[in-house]
This record gives sequence, C-alpha cells and structure tokens, in this order.
Amino acid sequence: MSDAAGKILGVGRALGGRVVTNQDLEKVLDTDDAWVVERTGIKERRFVAEGEDCATLAADASKAALAHAGLSGEDVDLILCATSTAPESMPSAACLVGEAIGAPGVGAMDISAACTGYSYAASVAHSMLESGAARRVLLIGADAMTKVVDAQDRSTAVLFGDGAGAVVLERGSGESGFVDHILGADGRMAPLGRAGHPGTQNKLYQNGREVFKFAARIFPEMTEKLLARNGVSPDEVQYVIPHQANARIIHAAMRKMEIPEERVVINLTRFGNTSAASIPISYPDIFDSLEPGRYVVTVGFGFGLTWAANLYRI
Ligand code: UT7
Repeated sequence: MSDAAGKILGVGRALGGRVVTNQDLEKVLDTDDAWVVERTGIKERRFVAEGEDCATLAADASKAALAHAGLSGEDVDLILCATSTAPESMPSAACLVGEAIGAPGVGAMDISAACTGYSYAASVAHSMLESGAARRVLLIGADAMTKVVDAQDRSTAVLFGDGAGAVVLERGSGESGFVDHILGADGRMAPLGRAGHPGTQNKLYQNGREVFKFAARIFPEMTEKLLARNGVSPDEVQYVIPHQANARIIHAAMRKMEIPEERVVINLTRFGNTSAASIPISYPDIFDSLEPGRYVVTVGFGFGLTWAANLYRI
C-alpha cells in the first residue's frame, strides 16, 4: 500500500442560521412530517439566514477548522472549496474564503461535482500534498442549496439544507492520511438532475427514483472496490461517511456490505441533504473518537451523474 498523505489536523462546520422542521414546511407546502421522515429520514434542515450564503458558511467552517487545528489562514498554502452554489460565477467561493480567513496570496479554487464535490476535492488535495505542491490544504465542502431549489416544489424543497464543513490537512509522515480514491462521471445521465446558478430562474430538477437506484448501487460498489484493491478488510473500517441524500439509500447500501450498520455516519436527520457539505459536516461529531490505524471511507454521488469514494487511514 502507498504512503498516506493528508493527515487531518482540524475540523469545523457551519450550518445555515434558520432551523426549518418538517412541521414548518407543512405550513407552506402540501407535505407532511410522516411522508418526509418515512421516505427520506429527514426531520429538520438548516436554511441560510439573511446575509448568509455558501461562501459565508464556507468561511465560518474554515475559521472553526483552523481554530481547532491551532492554525491561522497564513498557515495553509492551498484552499479548495467543493461547491456548486458559489454566490457568483466569479470570483470563486474559495477566493472569498481566502479573504475571510486572512490568507492573501494563497492559491484558491472551487471544485464543482455537485453532491460528489467533497470526494473529488479530497482526491485533488491528496495529490497536491503527495506531490509536494502543497504542505497544508484547507479542504471545504459547502453548499447553499436553498439558493437553487424552488421553495414551492415539494418534491425537492423538503430534501435540501445549507451548510459547510472544512478540514485542515497536512502532508504528514505517511502514517495517516488519504490512501486511495475512485472518481467517476457519466454526462449521458446529466438529464437526471440539474440546476442553474444561484439567482437564475432555472431551479433544481431531479428524477428522484432514477438517482435513487443509481446511488443505492454505486455506493456499495465503490466502497467494496476501494477496500479490496487496498487490501483493507471491512473490520478495519471504523466509519463510512456517505453523502446524505436519503436514509433509505444509506440503509440499502449498508445491507449489501459486510460493514456493520452502526459504523455508518448519518447527519441528514438534522441537516437534510447539504450536497458537497454533507460528508465534511460529519467530522466534528466523530473526530475525537477516531482510532489510529483504522480507516474512514467517504462516499459521494450526485448530479452529473458523478460518483467518488476516498479511503483515509486514521
Ligand atoms: O443528492 C443528490 C442525489 N440525489 C439523490 O440521491 C436523491 C435520490 N432520490 C430520493 O431520495 C427519492 O427518490 C426522493 C426522496 C426524492 C423521492 O422519494 P420516492 O419514494 O422516490 O417518491 P416519488 O418521487 O416516487 O413520489 C412518491 C409520491 C408521489 O405521489 P404519487 O405520484 O404516488 O401520487 C409524489 O407526488 O410522493 C409524492 N410526494 C410527496 N408527498 C408528500 C413527493 N414529494 C412529496 C412531499 N410530501 N414532499
């Protein structure tokens, strides 16, 4: 197995300022708590408050991750932000984060792969660290999905929430960090889900049933392939952190694998589907329990269609 690179030094998250429960949505949409809980597992989500957007959430999560690591903006030499909902096409959300955390001159870019964005960006961070192009990377997943969802469309408005998660990665000694990744995309399936930029009329559409079937298949397929080709047994996996689209997808996938269900991390109950943020916003909940020598598998899937998985040695 190759040396690991990209040890996690600190983690942080920020959620939209408005808590919106299923009961709140019952008042404005033809929906009900029982349908949403049964079909998705979601009980509440967080929407951006006045003055918040994807970049402010990304900046707040980054400040929390840097503080957790005992570092400042000047201590990182690359900022990667996985997002599809940057407030404007230009500048990137990553540039705005650089300004907010006091990292002038530090390289910054967004990576766009819808809900798979974090897993894509993690593979880029790993490569930059492994090659020596960067020593410390601030890796963020952030989305303000309410900016692209039609609030009147019950089939999507109940699903999404706004949030950001950030991790500070250091090249490290080779013991702990990312080990391997799988990345995939198939643009022939672009019609299954799409959305315009924030501020445009082109709101989010998805063929929920087809995306569901795809996700329930690709999630265990990627996880098993990643473990097999690195000689890692299911017992060695401490946590699986999947993209949080639907609890039924997660349970169906876990049933197909040998990893016990109690090792899967679920946050959609509280936060809904936060797209590129859904994986990294989990880290603050598990960071203190991570056991050196074991593994974390992170698994993304979403529009594009795109899919990706990352193997991280603790
Ligand atoms: O994160 C990016 C990737 N996205 C995903 O992975 C999403 C994958 N898909 C899903 O999670 C599920 O397909 C959904 C949660 C989106 C939908 O669940 P479903 O079980 O596939 O429901 P459906 O779309 O087939 O709709 C079933 C029924 C319909 O009524 P009829 O036609 O059977 O009378 C819908 O109109 O449920 C109705 N419905 C609702 N009812 C109450 C749809 N949305 C709602 C709602 N409240 N919010």
